[in-house]
Amino acid sequence: MDNLEAKAKELKEKIAYAGSIETLEQIRIETLGRNGIVTEVLRGLSALPIEERKTAGERANRLKKEFEELIGARIQELKSRFISRALASEKDDISPAFAFPFDRGHGNPLRQTLLEITEIFKSLGFSVVEGPEIETDWYNFEALNIPKDHPARDIQDTFYLEGSDKLLRTHTSPVQIHVMEKQKPPLRVIVPGRVYRNEATDSSHSAIFHQVEGLAVGENITFADLKGTLTLFVQKLFGKNTKLRFRPSYFQFTEPSGELDVSCFICGGKGCRVCKNSGWLEMLGCGMVHPNVFKAVKYDPLIYSGYAFGLGVERFAMLMYGIDDMRLFYENNLRFLRQF
Ligand code: PHE
Repeated sequence: MDNLEAKAKELKEKIAYAGSIETLEQIRIETLGRNGIVTEVLRGLSALPIEERKTAGERANRLKKEFEELIGARIQELKSRFISRALASEKDDISPAFAFPFDRGHGNPLRQTLLEITEIFKSLGFSVVEGPEIETDWYNFEALNIPKDHPARDIQDTFYLEGSDKLLRTHTSPVQIHVMEKQKPPLRVIVPGRVYRNEATDSSHSAIFHQVEGLAVGENITFADLKGTLTLFVQKLFGKNTKLRFRPSYFQFTEPSGELDVSCFICGGKGCRVCKNSGWLEMLGCGMVHPNVFKAVKYDPLIYSGYAFGLGVERFAMLMYGIDDMRLFYENNLRFLRQF
């Protein structure tokens, strides 16, 4: 699919989910306005060789018609929805339990971000698995090479279930263990899910948040595979020109470990408020699976190697949508949610 079709597909989805007439007007400008994507194609036609002009022209006209119809239909849908609401509030009791037409509704921005992320990894051959939110100490820590007295536990304090060794998982990494216990390599999975930490809530912390874990294990997997996969992922999500930078880091269950930065897609790397003038954004933690983790699941570390990564969905969504307070995702304020 070329750029125009991809952009058109994205905009069509936006139309289907648009919650206000202003949003639709904005999309109309982006497509059919003076610098809209369709208008630009039409304008560029005369520069094309005769044989290409016809197909390109037909395609642009088809898109033009499609957009006009889709936007018009969605505006009608929204208008009738507003009218039925107004009528329902004027006369008590005459409205049925559900006013028609129904609100179509849509996913919370976190869910949308999560779906976007998982779709990309699915297209790269990963399968999606989930794991339990209530874990044992073994899965959340020990099997991941974090022994009982390790200081790393302090920054992953969580909620413990009284009278047992059960706890709410602090990351999606324990699902690495579940997957490897059940499957033989080669394997490639991503794990979306909810995680918990004993943290005070503020604009960038929450005791409940979401992660996506990635794990690939096989016979000749190297850091180059990790780098290639994450490059494809990041460039699909933020655009082809995005640059990547790996910084050394430390996680108990990977060695070597790294943190991935991407060039700031807001200022293009020049430096702005969001990237704190550095030109880079911290995106995720990653590394090569530690041999002790393989030992915990009885994989032979001399035969197998693999990589893992973990990202925070809230952080991705905040950057992608320009949201500056994490609490907004959970408050269910419709004025916030309707914007996505
Ligand atoms: N589990 C780590 C965290 O929550 C992230 C991570 C996952 C790092 C996989 C490396 C590999 O901070």
